[in-house]
Amino acid sequence: MTDIAAGRLQRASKVIVHPLTVRITHWLNALAMVIMIMSGWRVYNSEPIFPFRFPVELTLGGSYDGSVDVHNEDGLAGALQWHFAGMWLLAINGIVYVAYGILSGHFRRAFFPVGPTAVLRDAIAALRFRLPHRLGLYNAVQKALYLGVLAAGVIMVLSGLAIWKPGQFQELTWLFGGFDAARVIHFLGMAAIVAFLVVHIALVIIVPKTLPAMITGRASAHEAHGED
Ligand code: HEM
Repeated sequence: MTDIAAGRLQRASKVIVHPLTVRITHWLNALAMVIMIMSGWRVYNSEPIFPFRFPVELTLGGSYDGSVDVHNEDGLAGALQWHFAGMWLLAINGIVYVAYGILSGHFRRAFFPVGPTAVLRDAIAALRFRLPHRLGLYNAVQKALYLGVLAAGVIMVLSGLAIWKPGQFQELTWLFGGFDAARVIHFLGMAAIVAFLVVHIALVIIVPKTLPAMITGRASAHEAHGED
């Protein structure tokens, strides 16, 4: 085989950059997050903590017929049903992802090492558009963002339990500083996840080749960093 033919063959071959479990749990998590955020906004609207409500068109909670104040009562029961259904998907899927991530070594390989110096260096390089992207290999900014959103997810589930059943989970509610503080923390966690999503989706738009790889799991050998 000539060198050119060998090179072509190598370039044409595909390697796995995202394991199947990571892809399935990632997309189920994206679905669960959308359900949780949109239904959560409708629940919030029925008793806002801050002086604003979310546009009802962006919320989930069943139809409303205008017979009651849509911002207050209508859709609250439906929104809670969506929120609890989404919660099971989010929690069970999250446990599968975290268990896989720890046991398979995926978290260690994909998210570590990471430190403030590397995050700063990569952030500056990214802002100058000088950060090359190898599929399946995360830069330090991505690593920090993914670890941060994972922590936010855990805080969301725990603070959610604290405000759902403050009686049964007294110690948890106490840990969050009481019911009202747990509600504020639950809201701030949502805001952090929405901010992550804005950056996350903007990065996918800037580097679109990452999207098909996160769906099929594969990328051509010359632009990939495979995971075994
Ligand atoms: C529709 C919305 C979403 C799109 C289009 C999307 C797209 C992607 C893509 C393309 C990657 C791979 C990045 C790369 O190869 O550099 C990725 C990874 C990741 N995304 Fe998303 N994502 C979405 C929603 C979410 C949500 C809601 C979360 C969590 C709140 C999330 C958390 C993550 C994490 C943690 C990873 C790394 C996965 C791993 O390797 O273990 N994504 N996403």
